This record gives sequence, C-alpha cells and structure tokens, in this order.
Amino acid sequence: MSDLQQSLFLKTLRGEPVPRPPIWIMRQAGRYLPEYMKVRESISFNDLCRTPEAACEVTLQPIRRFGFDAAIMFSDILTPLAPMGAEFEFGNGGPKLSRPVRDEKDIRGLSTYPSREGVPFVAEAIGLMKKELGDRTPLIGFAGSPFTLATYLIEGGGSKNYEHLKTMLYSRPELLQELLDKLGEQILDYLRMQADAGVDAIQLFDTWGGILHPVDYARMVLPVVRRIMDGLKDTGVPRIYFLKGSAPYNHLLRDLDVECCGIDWTQDLSLAITQLPGKAVQGNLDPLCLFGSENEIRRRATEICRQGAAAPGHVFNLGHGILPMIPPENAEALVDAVHAAGRR
Ligand code: CP3
Repeated sequence: MSDLQQSLFLKTLRGEPVPRPPIWIMRQAGRYLPEYMKVRESISFNDLCRTPEAACEVTLQPIRRFGFDAAIMFSDILTPLAPMGAEFEFGNGGPKLSRPVRDEKDIRGLSTYPSREGVPFVAEAIGLMKKELGDRTPLIGFAGSPFTLATYLIEGGGSKNYEHLKTMLYSRPELLQELLDKLGEQILDYLRMQADAGVDAIQLFDTWGGILHPVDYARMVLPVVRRIMDGLKDTGVPRIYFLKGSAPYNHLLRDLDVECCGIDWTQDLSLAITQLPGKAVQGNLDPLCLFGSENEIRRRATEICRQGAAAPGHVFNLGHGILPMIPPENAEALVDAVHAAGRR
C-alpha cells in the first residue's frame, strides 16, 4: 500500500486505528492567511479558481504553514455552475447572480455539460496539486450539494430567509425537484471527474440543507445526496457528507452510504457518534472558539478528541469554515492541541 494510503486521514476514513485524529479545517486556504491575501492582490477570486497554478499555490499555503493532515483543492462550490449558464460575481457582499433562477424557463435554461469540457481547469489543478503534495498529504476534492447550490441559484446569492426558494418549495415543489435533479446529475459528473483526476477523498458541502423540516429534508434533499454518493461508490474514493445543522436529521443519515459525516458545533459529538453507527465523524469545534483564549481553544479541542475516540474514526475539523478575521496563531494553537491529544 502506498504511503498516502497509510496517512492518518485515509486510515481514519477506513476506520483503522491511528495514534491521534488527523486535522484539516474547512476554508483552510483563505483570507485569514496573509500569504493568501498577497496572492489575491494580483488576481480576482474567480480567476484564482480557474487558474491551476494559482489554485495549486493557495491549496499548499495552509499545508506549509500548519502541516494539516489533508489538503482541500482550492475552488468554490459555485465554480461548476458557470458553464450551466449561471456565472456568479464575487464582490464584498458575497456571491451575486445577475439573473436568479425562479421559474421553469430559468430552470430549463440551465444546461448540464461534460465536466471535462466545461471545467477542465479543475482536473488540471488537481493534477498539479497531487504532484506537489506527493505521497505526504492526501487531497480532498469537493462540490456543493444540489440543495445548497439551489439556494444560491434561486436567491441569486446568500440569503437570510430563503424566501424565493421556500416560495417554490411550498407552491411548486415539482419545479424545485426538477432543478435539484439537474444539479444532481451535474454534480455527480463533476465529482467523478475529480476522482478520475486523482483526489483521495471527496466532501459534499451541504451548508444550507439544515433549513428545512425533517420531512422536507428527507423528501427534497436526501434522495439526490444519496444518488450522488451511491454514484461515486465504484470510484473507491472515501466520501464525506457535511450537512450544517444536521442534528435533527441524524436518524435520516444512518443508512446513507458514506464513510464519514461532518458534524457542526451545535451537537454533542458523543451523541452524534451514537446516532451514526459505523461511520467516521468529522468536526466539530465552533469556528468562533478560535477568537477565544488559547487555554479555551486547547481545552475544547482536547475534549472533542476525547469524545471522537469513541467513533470508528474521527477527523478533527471545525464545525464550519474558518473566518477571515481569525489570527493564524490561534489556528496554530488548535493544531498543536490536536497533535498533543495523541501524546496523552
Ligand atoms: O476549504 C477550502 O480552503 C477550499 C476552498 C473553498 C472556498 N469555498 C474558497 C472561498 C471551499 C471548499 C468553499 C466552499 C463554499 N463556498 C461553500 C460551502 C462551505 C461553507 O463555507 O459554507 C459555500 C457556501 C461557498 C460559497 C461562497 N464562496 C460564499 C458564500 C462566499 C463569500 C463569503 C466569503 O467567505 O467570502 C465565497 C467566496 C470564497 N470561497 C472565498 C474563498 C477563499 C473568499 C473569496 C475571496 O478571496 O475574496
């Protein structure tokens, strides 16, 4: 078996014993790092996602600085939507779509495409990243879940109440279904391309799947997540499903065929582990805890490692992405605390 297969991260996802939990952080490449800001002085975010050499460089930055146990390819969940006909602009107020998707005409105007042709730069970037990371650090590929992508398409950007999406859900659910099915087809193809290009694991980000009643989650969100995860099984690439706000739905995730579930900080990790038997878990420190004192960061991280030891596997992570204002030294203290957990 290659050295990479013996990495803490891939062993953990296979449920094999490890001396300490592996750690990586959602949004680990980003604005809290001065070296990332330096790169951004000369390239826009959209171009950064589409330029393999630059995307490779920022993917490596947090690995060099903190020695994380996994790299995540630099891109955005909205990147694969542009060739469908929905190009987002990233301004200071977050992503914006000039023409939101609100009716059947808009939905039918979005077209699926072969990912190799529409976003070849993603496969190319993965090739470069794999070469640089070598046998030392596994690479995570990712995509947004169809539901989370649909929130951005329908609202035209981020949202507080999701009023357009919910109007569609409660008046024309078949339309929302049509959009989710179309996105599901595209995202499966996109993730299969990433697996072919050589990623060592994939994570599906479902940042906004948690805004629904469990009955609607089970009906609208879960079936297409299942189709994507089942459709990736034959690639052999381990699959992580991160659903923010999953606590009320854990019972629904029990029989989802994935190696690992990402858990946010609003649930007790011990309880989530009992609710997700047989699965590895990933999480679950509150990202805002990184504003706290070093003592508190260490204390909470140590407790999460202790709880995680009861799972078939525990990947240490935050419960959501790291924020731009976090001092990098605080992330450093977190990494050190997780490393120390193995020495106890
Ligand atoms: O994790 C990583 O380091 C890999 C890169 C990555 C980014 N976005 C880079 C990014 C990943 C995995 C994402 C996922 C993503 N993107 C999600 C799901 C996870 C989550 O955080 O909820 C979502 C919902 C998006 C959509 C998105 N992209 C938003 C809402 C924003 C604006 C808000 C913000 O943080 O700026 C982005 C922009 C974005 N994506 C940035 C980065 C580094 C900042 C862009 C910049 O450099 O100005």
